[in-house]
Amino acid sequence: MTAPLKNSDPIVVDVALGERAYDIVIGRGVLTSLGARVAALRPGARAAIVTDEYVATHWLRKTEASLLDAGIATSRIIVDEGEISKSYEGLEYVCEELIAAKIERNDLVIALGGGVVGDLAGFAAAVLRRGVDFVQVPTSLLAQVDSSVGGKTGINSPHGKNLVGAFHQPVLVVADTAVLDTLSPRQFRAGYAEVAKYGVLGDEAFFTWLEASHADIVAGGAAREHAIATSCRAKAAIVMRDERENGERALLNLGHTFGHALEAATGFSDRLFHGEGVAIGMVLAAEFSAQLGMIADADAARVKHHLAAVGLPTHLQDIAGFTQEKIGADALMTLMAQDKKVKRGRLTFILLEAVGRAAIVPDVEPSLVRDFMARKLARKS
Ligand code: GLY
Repeated sequence: MTAPLKNSDPIVVDVALGERAYDIVIGRGVLTSLGARVAALRPGARAAIVTDEYVATHWLRKTEASLLDAGIATSRIIVDEGEISKSYEGLEYVCEELIAAKIERNDLVIALGGGVVGDLAGFAAAVLRRGVDFVQVPTSLLAQVDSSVGGKTGINSPHGKNLVGAFHQPVLVVADTAVLDTLSPRQFRAGYAEVAKYGVLGDEAFFTWLEASHADIVAGGAAREHAIATSCRAKAAIVMRDERENGERALLNLGHTFGHALEAATGFSDRLFHGEGVAIGMVLAAEFSAQLGMIADADAARVKHHLAAVGLPTHLQDIAGFTQEKIGADALMTLMAQDKKVKRGRLTFILLEAVGRAAIVPDVEPSLVRDFMARKLARKS
């Protein structure tokens, strides 16, 4: 029998943003310290916990207990699970519940959940009473390594993902790695795509370590914490240099222009989780980079091989029901045109100069992208 994993000493990553600076606390079992950390940070504040039905059944009691033990009065707001809650209706519901719970300017919103809850609760906190502080308690791997860090909050528009939102940094992120034990293998793998992204975009040594360590990361323990902390450090470093995405922060969108279009094409449904879209999108970005002569075919194959080895989808045809009859290259181009990196109608892509070095490539000729996507849809390369 395998011995149970022990709680670990937390790793603390500092996001040094001046008066908006905050800590990301990472470790197995750190959820129990949430109340003490919040009480030290905002003495006397009350807290409204925003979570979804699934996370509530697993982690709400423990979260409330930690806050109550530290003398913090709590209320709870439970939203439907899934992307459907990242909507105008979801935002209205959370804001009205926060107002009904009498959350004031000096109180706190606590986002307990994955990327959907973090983005929604963070945006509600950004606009409620013109801005209330919030704490991220990410419960998915994707949220722990990406969406809970950096202050991007928002909801989806029927026209595309995350088109309505605000930059609003959390005051604290508490990432308990034991919480990930309750994720389905598919959800965990989807989050892993964002971990791999940090290696592919900026750290070849980390990517090489991931190629050797992915099974240990799934198993939990020190490898998982190292992967999460390395990802958070990489993200924090970029956000500290470019908080509002005027430049290099766009690198974090590697795989997302293709990925968001695929998510939109599949109706933001369970057919394709966000991380799965990023995995396919990263492979497409690598293969498109190879087509443009920026990297060797072998580099693109290396990225694809690793993601496939982890069990992630890497082809358009890996998406259930995704056939050329249902969606064509022109429809995908229209969806990509909603990307936030589009400037005056011209597409910007995050492409690769090497495994471990991404570049922002503006003004990509649309016909090249269209032909590439048409070939991929026809599975010609
Ligand atoms: N997820 C990309 C960013 O935070 O900039």
